[in-house]
Amino acid sequence: MSRLIERWNSPTRDFTQANVAAAHRLHERSMFDDAALADLLDAYPRDQLGVFTMGDDPVAWKSWRRGDAGSLSGAELLAEVKAGRLWLNLRHTNHVAEAYADLATEIFGQVEADTGAKTFKHDLGLLISSPNAQVFYHLDTPLVMLWQLRGRKRVWVYPREEPFVTDAQIEKVVLGESAEQFDYDPAWDARAEVFDLEPGVMVSWPQNAPHRVENGPMLNVSLSIEFLTPEALLRANVLYANGIMRRTLGHKPGPVETRGVAAIAKFAMARGHKLLSPGRPRSAPVPKTFEVRADKAA
Ligand SMILES: [Fe+2]
Repeated sequence: MSRLIERWNSPTRDFTQANVAAAHRLHERSMFDDAALADLLDAYPRDQLGVFTMGDDPVAWKSWRRGDAGSLSGAELLAEVKAGRLWLNLRHTNHVAEAYADLATEIFGQVEADTGAKTFKHDLGLLISSPNAQVFYHLDTPLVMLWQLRGRKRVWVYPREEPFVTDAQIEKVVLGESAEQFDYDPAWDARAEVFDLEPGVMVSWPQNAPHRVENGPMLNVSLSIEFLTPEALLRANVLYANGIMRRTLGHKPGPVETRGVAAIAKFAMARGHKLLSPGRPRSAPVPKTFEVRADKAA
């Protein structure tokens, strides 16, 4: 099989440490055409399907709403995505469909061979989204690669530092206390790195870096691939422990440090805390407030 990653446009040693871009050939495969997407939507567990809509203003992140795909077939749902303002997130496709499990093996085989990274907890999330739809300013707990397959979108990646984000805000996301979206100032765009994604482009950024996305005026299909490395797992656990210490001991953590004895102790503490408090309340999932219906009148 031919290589999926054609060329890295950034030094491979920067992978997971800085913003990186690469050229890929995944979009040339037929597994992302309309018929294959409709079949995947039919096969995908409906109760796990993320269905969202949102307003136009990139600052108004509270306009993000979760919905339900109702009884629409995969083909009908795809038609509604093309016509409407929807954002479908099919998380863990590699746990649902064999073709995506094979793809995860192929992608991470090449990424690890090229960059030397050791990765695990692979989650291939397929994003099928409407013309002009957007994802508001937010950050993710694990590392992320975004592979563009159909359509065009613009991605802004912001520095992982104040004022763009504080450690306390990252801790809240890692602890699951807050939705991953939070306040953003459009003036910050001047400090962001901007990527114009078209089919065949992949970008990745450092763990927890804030970012936002705006689609071009066409259907978009992308793979949002989440993963961890040993260092990323350690960082997530240090942030988790810092968050617990900030809450229970009134402790004000210093800079996030993933080296040394303190980091190992925090890793152990975070692991222990998660084991001892399995019922710890996390933020409630966004309730479903709309249902997608086929617009027969259209
Ligand atoms: Fe994200």
